[in-house]
Amino acid sequence: MKVGVPAEIKADEYRVALTPIGARELAEHGHEVIVERGAGEGSAISDADFEAQGARIAPSAEDVLAEAELVLGVKEPQPEEVALLRPQHTLFTYLHLAPAPELTRALCDSGATCIAYETVEDSRGRLPLLAPMSEIAGKIATQAGAFMLEKPLGGRGILLGGVPGVASANVMIIGGGAVGMNAAFIAIGMEADVFVYDKSIDRLRELDVAFGGRASTVFSSTLSIEERLPDVDLVIGGVLVHGARAPHVISREQLALMKRSAVLVDVAIDQGGCFETSKPTTHSDPTYEVDGIIHYCVANMPGAVPITSTYALTNATLPYMLALADHGVIDAVRRDPGLKPGINVAGGKVTHEAVAEGVGMDYSSPEQVLGFEMPVNGASADGAGATAARAMPGSS
Ligand SMILES: NC(=O)c1ccc[n+]([C@@H]2O[C@H](COP(=O)([O-])OP(=O)(O)OC[C@H]3O[C@@H](n4cnc5c(N)ncnc54)[C@H](O)[C@@H]3O)[C@@H](O)[C@H]2O)c1
Repeated sequence: MKVGVPAEIKADEYRVALTPIGARELAEHGHEVIVERGAGEGSAISDADFEAQGARIAPSAEDVLAEAELVLGVKEPQPEEVALLRPQHTLFTYLHLAPAPELTRALCDSGATCIAYETVEDSRGRLPLLAPMSEIAGKIATQAGAFMLEKPLGGRGILLGGVPGVASANVMIIGGGAVGMNAAFIAIGMEADVFVYDKSIDRLRELDVAFGGRASTVFSSTLSIEERLPDVDLVIGGVLVHGARAPHVISREQLALMKRSAVLVDVAIDQGGCFETSKPTTHSDPTYEVDGIIHYCVANMPGAVPITSTYALTNATLPYMLALADHGVIDAVRRDPGLKPGINVAGGKVTHEAVAEGVGMDYSSPEQVLGFEMPVNGASADGAGATAARAMPGSS
């Protein structure tokens, strides 16, 4: 199969969807890899590094997509990229479509099959292609929040960890998944007082063990959040309902309960934001103020640390890329049922229920649109990731 890697063009995005490691694996599986010139530069990967592992360099995204069947990306395609998509393409990238009806309609019009990293599931229903970026975004969330709390940046002017004789700042983290746990670990390390809110009791149990008493866990509800808001200096939002638009856990009205110049970091902004007053921002202009509260809502936080995040992302995506390239979409999905919820758009239809609900469009099942049936019980229990990983040299 011909596998194409265009350069990322979203503002302040320096990641690339494939590393030389991936180019080598795909080449060894007999696939042809075409990388846009300069695509790896932001992640300190040169064209020569790709070429040395068997990839071919093409001068533009147009050239890459003219040839490629499987198109690899990091962020959602920008309008000029959507214009290049055709029915023969399988696009494999982050999409975050639930809050993006316009992009969803444009992808439907392209006729391409669009598989979203963030809704691919493993055999336990977890999100293996979202987790590495959430780990990074969670860590950045606390760093960024601590920075924005500094007075010259508009914050209250409080040091997260305090000093002997002066109390630490209070950090509230809403959503204790991959983002929330990693944000909490950094906040604990910076010696803040940390409170993690989640709706899942099982998750709160796991967090309680992981924190070993160094942070408090709280069952998330409107009242429990409201009661803590007057005391907090930094709030980090990392709630997620798989594939769906983020629920609002802090309303505009509730901002009035908070201290002036406290900071909100909305990591869930890529799913529409979990604070009512959130709107997407960029690394170049990351914050704005609403009712005296500083909002940080960067939609591609891991893009700021591409050397870490390109490798963390591609470590996770590579087995799925190999499965898609080796078997094609339908067989890859039949071998790994966890890839099926990844298919968000196909044959001009929305093929993920929560996305369809989020954008207000009709849902059609991937089976119906692509014309296949899932095996009754013949599918691999551990997923395409594991199937493909076993086929990789050096994998255990
Ligand atoms: N901005 C960025 O650059 C960036 C980067 C990575 C991830 N994200 C986003 O961060 C969000 C969180 O991702 P994750 O991987 O941590 O998800 P996750 O599934 O691991 O965790 C989400 C947690 O939210 C909890 N939750 C759901 N509804 C809740 C509610 N109403 N109140 C409290 N908790 C609730 C769930 O129980 C779960 O524990 C996602 O929207 C993801 O796309 C953003």
